[in-house]
Amino acid sequence: MANTNFIEFNDITFTYPPVEGDLDEKGNQIVPKPIFEHFSASLPTGFVSLVGQNGCGKSTLMLLASGRLQPDSGSISLLGQNPFALSQESKNLLASVIYQNMEFETEDTVSELLAQVYSAGTYKGEAAAINPEYKPVDNEHKMPSSSHSNLLSEVIDVFELETVLNHQLTHLSKGEIQRVLLAFSILYGSSSIFMDEPLFAMENYQKEIALAYLREFVHKTGTTIYISMHEIDLSKKYSDLVLLFYPNRDMSLGTPEEVLTNDDLEKAYGIPAVMLKNKEDLTRQQLQGEADLLQRTR
Ligand SMILES: Nc1ncnc2c1ncn2[C@@H]1O[C@H](COP(=O)(O)OP(=O)(O)OP(=O)(O)O)[C@@H](O)[C@H]1O
Ligand SMILES: [Mg+2]
Repeated sequence: MANTNFIEFNDITFTYPPVEGDLDEKGNQIVPKPIFEHFSASLPTGFVSLVGQNGCGKSTLMLLASGRLQPDSGSISLLGQNPFALSQESKNLLASVIYQNMEFETEDTVSELLAQVYSAGTYKGEAAAINPEYKPVDNEHKMPSSSHSNLLSEVIDVFELETVLNHQLTHLSKGEIQRVLLAFSILYGSSSIFMDEPLFAMENYQKEIALAYLREFVHKTGTTIYISMHEIDLSKKYSDLVLLFYPNRDMSLGTPEEVLTNDDLEKAYGIPAVMLKNKEDLTRQQLQGEADLLQRTR
């Protein structure tokens, strides 16, 4: 299923531009340090989660891989192409991105936008449901199994969009927007999708339903999905592979069992793994708070 030829980073260096007004104590402009320096890696296809603490480079790696940021030097290949050099549309068809922070300027309703995205992408508004006899993952919260004639009705059901179809996107709650964005990314039909913390505002049961569906979508359509998330237990439960980031930009790649070991988690987060365990909805604030507390009590 997985192959290692999905993304190739060849000796890349990437630095964010200097921030105007960011001065040192002598009043000189602070020149930022590279986020990646002579970094090379081959990364595989599949349903891959990116895990690691704030600032470790998850978003930057995904933006480089998807051609939304250009490296200062070195080369990047995504499915054999240089994503940064492509036209906007070819780039979108190769890799869509759910950004960590997205803002919208539209008065269109969810239902109008779903139709637009569906017809603009690969499927031209026509694709079969991946699981026509949809079986809910969580019987407690989900309606009985339903059947779906096409992908659009399936994603409306899976991401629970029925009640917001006639609402404007800009009038939705954060969790509702996240569910709509997941639906867009599926309906557009790119070869790959990079999802930057797409679930954090959703209810836990919806996170589970979404992850189970995304994994099935990957396996049935051959699309590759890279998804960053802070829910370690869910990453363990649903991903094919995990890319665990350490603070020094080293990374481990492997199955959840191989990578999400206590030792590796401690190395990645700098706090005892027992503090990370069984905390499905551990927020970054909690994590940071725990790390700070530990620092102070040492
Ligand atoms: N637009 C930017 N300008 C300057 N520096 C940035 C910018 N975005 C990120 N950085 C820096 O790059 C480093 C990597 O950040 P990145 O956003 O990739 O981390 P992350 O793993 O996605 O973190 P998080 O879990 O908080 O989303 C951090 O040190 C961050 O401060
Ligand atoms: Mg990020």
